[in-house]
Amino acid sequence: MGEKTQVGAGARTGDGARADGGAQAGGGARDDTAEVIIRLTNLHKSFGELSVLQGVDLTVERGQVVSIIGPSGSGKSTVLRCVNGLEKIDRGVVEIEGVVVAAVGTPGAKPAPKEQIRAVLAKTGMVFQSFNLFPHMTALQNVIEAPMTVKKIPKARARELGMEKLRRVGLDDKADAFPSRLSGGQKQRVAIARALAMEPDFMLFDEPTSALDPELVGEVLDVIKSLAREHMSMMIVSHEMGFTREVSDRVIFVDNQKIVADNPPERFFNSPEHPRVAAFLDKMLN
Ligand SMILES: Nc1ncnc2c1ncn2[C@@H]1O[C@H](COP(=O)(O)OP(=O)(O)OP(=O)(O)O)[C@@H](O)[C@H]1O
Ligand SMILES: [Mg+2]
Repeated sequence: MGEKTQVGAGARTGDGARADGGAQAGGGARDDTAEVIIRLTNLHKSFGELSVLQGVDLTVERGQVVSIIGPSGSGKSTVLRCVNGLEKIDRGVVEIEGVVVAAVGTPGAKPAPKEQIRAVLAKTGMVFQSFNLFPHMTALQNVIEAPMTVKKIPKARARELGMEKLRRVGLDDKADAFPSRLSGGQKQRVAIARALAMEPDFMLFDEPTSALDPELVGEVLDVIKSLAREHMSMMIVSHEMGFTREVSDRVIFVDNQKIVADNPPERFFNSPEHPRVAAFLDKMLN
């Protein structure tokens, strides 16, 4: 598995360019030449005595949208947190853009040098249920904070970039507003703009609309849908089934510490093979 460190290194395209072209258009069609952007192999994770993930294998190709659904406590957030290094894995391999960012108990696989790991993790954007904006900073200041401190982008350029990202989520008119003056939907869109300001190669969304009043959910989902149309690679945990069906190339169901289904949305929702998936969908949709 050691050779995997090299995977993708040569296939990478320049700034923001997409090698996959229309790979996403087929709605789940796999393209054998597509570049794998995230690969989890035999992932195991426990919290003390509690085993949460036991042998999770999962790949996301560049430009794909992969949704994860499953019962509460099944480990959906843990999967995302293992991808971006917020959780240490107990066993298995995590690769991002061909770089091994974590490898435990897997002969032949070893983590890449720290600098390389830092560099690929810096290209991960994550958006949480609770927006986590700095309350003492305006929307724009929230968005430009990381580009200035982490990427050392000069303030004037960071402000331009920040305004561009706020415009991207329809909030350039709220640049000077503090979070306390923003609705939940607006706060979450600022949080998305903040993630985009780091020019991520892929985005992880963990229940981005769960904390919102129902009438504010749509504006956030619309922003995520527009990212999908631009072929942003994404992993999304959401309980919004209509949205999941519309936006995903693949839908993954996690239950009992494992992935029990991984299908294109039509198949996942129309003819779920696994009884647990069928029961879950029945409960969610009826
Ligand atoms: N830091 C932690 N310490 C101890 N237990 C944890 C920790 N994080 C998660 N867990 C436990 O691991 C299990 C999986 O948690 P996780 O948050 O991944 O589930 P989830 O599928 O995202 O659930 P939900 O739909 O409620 O968000 C749960 O039983 C949770 O209580
Ligand atoms: Mg969760």
